[in-house]
Amino acid sequence: HLPSRVKLVEMGPRDGLQNEPQTLATGLKVALIERLAKAGHQHIEATSFVSPRWVPQMADAAAVMAQLKRAPDVTYRALTPNLKGLEGALAAGVDEVAVFAAASETFSQRNINCSVHQSLARFETVIERAQQANVRVRGYVSTVMGCPYEGHITPQQVADVSDALYRMGCYEISLGDTIGTGTPRQAKKLIEAVSQKVPMEKLAAHFHDTYGQALANLYAVLEEGVAIIDASVAGLGGCPYAKGASGNVATEDVVYMLEGLGIESGLNLPVLASTGVWISAQLGRVNQSKVGQALSTQ
Ligand code: HMG
Ligand code: MG
Repeated sequence: HLPSRVKLVEMGPRDGLQNEPQTLATGLKVALIERLAKAGHQHIEATSFVSPRWVPQMADAAAVMAQLKRAPDVTYRALTPNLKGLEGALAAGVDEVAVFAAASETFSQRNINCSVHQSLARFETVIERAQQANVRVRGYVSTVMGCPYEGHITPQQVADVSDALYRMGCYEISLGDTIGTGTPRQAKKLIEAVSQKVPMEKLAAHFHDTYGQALANLYAVLEEGVAIIDASVAGLGGCPYAKGASGNVATEDVVYMLEGLGIESGLNLPVLASTGVWISAQLGRVNQSKVGQALSTQ
């Protein structure tokens, strides 16, 4: 059984751009976010309030939020790893924030410079403060189907971290296959384990496409009952320093698949695809969306 409607969450402006080596002008980031809203996106991860020394591309987070012409029915979210990030995000008037943990200790250290346990303690204060400000908090778990440093990760490790974030007050838990190594049966087993702790309707699939498995994995978890999907226009993303690392699954490819399955997403595929062609040209990148490529050559 498949859901009749899927909530799509656009990652392009954040996950898609965060590793770009050339600084993209703030105005172009703003234009990207506005085009994504015009394509029908109602949930857009716009930027990150993180250390500019760790992620230089996100240094203009406040300026992006200030320059954005906001559509009334769109939720604009930012990543906030600590209280400093949260204060910046609240001052910028974001609609929603997100904290990000990992199932792997080593990944946690490399990504946010603390242990999983320390990160959860830190997030507890971030979530409390966000809730006081009436701002909802999404929780991410990285390395859910494999870690670049530790290799195998068990579904139980992911379920435990997801459970902790959900109990602390995250309204939605997004499961990140950070390095895109997962395969469909593994994705099903993951969802089976995590949904024992967090209700199925609160789970999002955040799959990177490094090994070309993301669409197959999405189909597998749709069958399990997942109805929230993270994706990145033109498949933007990937680390220029990590060989073969790819962005999130391309939003165009997900929308095309959903349309074929008769699942509503609210997205306008031609408008989305032309946005993907436009941003790829701005970045001088090959469009990583197969559907985007196919539609642009017709
Ligand atoms: P740290 O160095 O341990 O932090 O970094 P600190 O508290 O010791 O502070 C050090 C300096 O950073 C200080 O400045 C702070 O003010 C500054 P100094 O006094 O040296 O000039 N600082 C900040 N500046 C701006 N905004 C902030 C902030 N916090 C501290 N929020 C920290 C810890 C978490 C800050 C750092 O490691 C960091 O920013 N990491 C972010 C990494 C990141 O953004 N990764 C990518 C996003 S996660 C992801 O992509 C995965 C996901 O897509 C799911 C998946 O695919 O798996 C979500
Ligand atoms: Mg990601």
